[in-house]
Amino acid sequence: MTQASAEEIERLAEEAEAAIAGATSLSELDGLRVAYRGRKGKLTAALKGIGELPLEERRAVGRAGNEATQRLLSALDRRGQELEAEAAAGRAAADQIDVTLPGRGVEVGHRHPLMTTLERVLEIFVGMGYSVVQGPEVEWYALNWTALNYPPDHPAMDEQDSFYVTDEVMLRTHTSPVQVRAMRAMHDGSCPVRRLDWRCPPQEALASCRCTPPPTRVVVPGRTYRRESVTLTHHDIFYQVECLLVDEGITFADLKGVLAAFLRAYLGPTTRVRFRPDFFPFTEPSADFSVNCEFCDARGCRFCKESGWVEIGGSGLVHPNVLIAGGYDPDRVSGFAFGFGVERLAQRRYRIPHIRTLYENDMRFLRQF
Ligand code: PHE
Repeated sequence: MTQASAEEIERLAEEAEAAIAGATSLSELDGLRVAYRGRKGKLTAALKGIGELPLEERRAVGRAGNEATQRLLSALDRRGQELEAEAAAGRAAADQIDVTLPGRGVEVGHRHPLMTTLERVLEIFVGMGYSVVQGPEVEWYALNWTALNYPPDHPAMDEQDSFYVTDEVMLRTHTSPVQVRAMRAMHDGSCPVRRLDWRCPPQEALASCRCTPPPTRVVVPGRTYRRESVTLTHHDIFYQVECLLVDEGITFADLKGVLAAFLRAYLGPTTRVRFRPDFFPFTEPSADFSVNCEFCDARGCRFCKESGWVEIGGSGLVHPNVLIAGGYDPDRVSGFAFGFGVERLAQRRYRIPHIRTLYENDMRFLRQF
């Protein structure tokens, strides 16, 4: 192989410079370095025979070789720096925060419609002078039934199929047992009624009373339980609110007035209220109460069972035996009581056709409230 001339070497340098300037990545650049300056590179090969040249030529070719090597190295260096800078700029751009991107919101919780209903209901009663009290969900059989004037084995007890814990203890089927608890709580701390066993016969309460209890005026929110199949309007766990007023000279007119005032305060002033005779062992006389159905404008639909009326709860004048169980003398005082399902009221107010949606925790439903 003949030694390359100075011109050939210079051409090689130009060719290399052009290729290096056009390199688009650091790895391509490294490839070019090897292709020209590596052990088997083009420039390396072109300079191999220099030693055999006569002195005169050796100088010129040697100089050309040095120059070519310098140009190659500085071209590699320059392009290398440019590519590094481009890569760094790209990384910086990728790291940049795009302030126009929508943020990841933190969802703030809010009250369940059932709790909102309960809160508003209690507020109305508190506004009418009632105190809010509560009782246990796991209740004595004696208070859920016996103290409320249910005779032993009365068929009414089958009407409310129940969950029993033991023979004596059960999940309460209504908030009415709290009527008796609230009445007894009105007695003096020193009155034996306060320390009576809940299982003692109701009559013993009055017989052992050593005080004249002040009026009872309470509203009782709470969870209640019944073995029931779930329908549009029934659920086996549900909330009730009980209202009890015991004082001298309370009549059915007081009951109707308070109940209608409450229903109109909660559902709106144009709400129509209907009372119908009913039966409960713990009230006499008794009446159920309904309001006009809003789903169908009282024309009749599935929700109101085609009647135009939605039954909200039961009511009546407190039975003398229940007053006795509470330690009150039925010859001196009288009272009214009513109780209703909170779900039913919420359904009527917010037009929720199916009670189950109140318990399913479906956010698409809950977000609407
Ligand atoms: N406890 C009755 C029920 O759950 C409702 C009621 C309460 C009726 C108070 C009369 C008086 O059905």
